Amino acid sequence: MKMTRFADKFSDQAGINTLMDDLGKAMAGDQPMIMMGGGNPGHFSPVQERLRQELLKLAEDPQAFSRLIGNYDAPQGEAGFIRALVELLNDTYGWSLTEKNIALTNGSQAAFFMLFNLFAGQTSEGEQRQILLPLAPEYLGYADAGVGPDTFRSLKPKIDYLDEHRFKYRVDFDQLEVDESVGALCVSRPTNPTGNLLTDEEIDRLHALAKEKDIPLIIDGAYGSPFPELVYTPINPIWDEQVILCLSLSKLGLPAARTGIVIAAPEIIRTLSGTNAILNLATGSFGPQLMEPLVRSGELISMSRDLVRPWYEAKMHKAVETLDTALGDRCPWYLHQPEGAMFLWLWFPDLPISSQTLYERLKARGVLVVSGHHFFPGMPEEEPWQHRQECIRVTYSQDDEQVARGLEIIAEEVVQAYAGAVS
Ligand SMILES: Cc1ncc(COP(=O)(O)O)c(C=O)c1O
Repeated sequence: MKMTRFADKFSDQAGINTLMDDLGKAMAGDQPMIMMGGGNPGHFSPVQERLRQELLKLAEDPQAFSRLIGNYDAPQGEAGFIRALVELLNDTYGWSLTEKNIALTNGSQAAFFMLFNLFAGQTSEGEQRQILLPLAPEYLGYADAGVGPDTFRSLKPKIDYLDEHRFKYRVDFDQLEVDESVGALCVSRPTNPTGNLLTDEEIDRLHALAKEKDIPLIIDGAYGSPFPELVYTPINPIWDEQVILCLSLSKLGLPAARTGIVIAAPEIIRTLSGTNAILNLATGSFGPQLMEPLVRSGELISMSRDLVRPWYEAKMHKAVETLDTALGDRCPWYLHQPEGAMFLWLWFPDLPISSQTLYERLKARGVLVVSGHHFFPGMPEEEPWQHRQECIRVTYSQDDEQVARGLEIIAEEVVQAYAGAVS
């Protein structure tokens, strides 16, 4: 049957679809796999137990239960949750949000799809706009989220060498050009895949550029502050009407509840809610209703700061220690300074095989990672930059022993790949 260009966009064997398919098949195969590939948060019992208690309360209260399953929310999202969140964020950061500044979506992935298409594409004056990603590598889930062609363009970073096995990407402001074709800037902070935290200074400069051009600065806080707060280096979260801040309940431990939160100027929230009504009719209210008491009491923030962050931070330190021991000085390697999120981003300079081949070899040994070349949305394939073929992303959210074993196998394979080139 003949379908449209819109259909081609989603059926293309590109990016996220192929990758998710491959990871899914590997997990469903006969061989036991160490899953260090996806972005699934760990199953953290203290959080799960706390939410189980809230769910039991909802189930035992006939009125609350009837509201939980029986009503469509308004397209902007569950009003009680939004009200509570406005208060919590204003109290925490001294912002002056009102209920007109927040909309809920079915996961933040859905919010990005809507936002990117609101700000990239053809304007009513006929101009063509793009989303500029000022620092690639960037989240691969953005890649196919534009309905039109060329939704994104992205910029190579500056590389700061911190010591013999650590580095950090920085926005290359000398190369950053925000011209009339840019409809919005977008960064994930902390960054998926690198665990980078754009510094306050970088964010201030991006914010100033956004203000000068009167375009939004979209900050993807899926791993950020104030929840789930997977932030291991202090930063200053910002919001004003130039910023569209996207948050999510997923990485706190509720990816199945599909709750995304967008904080923006009222005009953007109105348009986003209208788009949401057309796409979804209403946003699911399970996540918002389950979490509302924890938002009202502020427990959402203390849970993130006192439970979730230390848990991930300890996992990060264990993983880094294992990696330092396993790789030592046995081959050239760098780790991006792990400042947040749940990933290690490894760079193997002059790796004799591509990162995709390394991914395949690791998969054959029962370890799933993600080849780094997927994480350059908006960068043309022909852009000559070998670095893109030299990195992998490793998730450390799962069981520590499995992660350690996986990292040891990665080290063996990489050392062997370099040795193979020499012999
Ligand atoms: C950086 C980033 N942003 C957004 C999302 C989307 O998350 P969700 O739709 O579950 O809120 C993810 C998921 O992995 C992510 O890594």
